[in-house]
Amino acid sequence: MALHRFSFSTLFLSLTLLTTTTLSLSLSTVYDLLPKYGLPSGLLPDSVTNFTLSDDGRFVVCLARSCEIEFDYRVRYEKTVSGRISYGSITELEGIQVKRLFIWLDVDEIKVDLPPTDSIYFKVGFINKKLGIDQFRTVHSCGVSGCSWKSFLQLKFASADMNEVSLWVLFRILEDVLEKDTD
Ligand SMILES: *[C@@H]1O[C@H](CO)[C@@H](O)[C@H](O)[C@H]1NC(C)=O
Repeated sequence: MALHRFSFSTLFLSLTLLTTTTLSLSLSTVYDLLPKYGLPSGLLPDSVTNFTLSDDGRFVVCLARSCEIEFDYRVRYEKTVSGRISYGSITELEGIQVKRLFIWLDVDEIKVDLPPTDSIYFKVGFINKKLGIDQFRTVHSCGVSGCSWKSFLQLKFASADMNEVSLWVLFRILEDVLEKDTD
């Protein structure tokens, strides 16, 4: 009998502890979490609704909607962003893209220097894009992805005939000339 009561209260205590842990985890925001890994909170937009983080650093972040923010490059966030976080870096990243010329490219990794410098690196394929870290210090509000004349052209290109392709090439060159390139 006494044994029964004991295990019952143990179970109750464990449940209480578990609930408390879960609660405190969900109370700390993803914006508090990033700096604990040496990364700036502004890497994610303000529209995060919830996230999960496993012991091995794997995380999934849900946003209210997909959106775009203009940093040195235009960055697009999908509704779900996932990856593996460790001190100073995010690897196996999915759901973040960067726009170069007309093309959206997947960002595979985000890294900072250790010890920290003024730079942050976005790994896109074989290329490491160096960006100023200051623009990621504050959390940006997330605009709904716009439908500019450029995205209209892009859409056109998806179903293009030859005339549209040459138009696209022309605009691509134009944009390249206009756009500041930090390479
Ligand atoms: C966030 O919440 C939604 C709706 O409750 C759920 O479907 C999704 O799996 C959650 N995502 C994470 C990363 O916890």
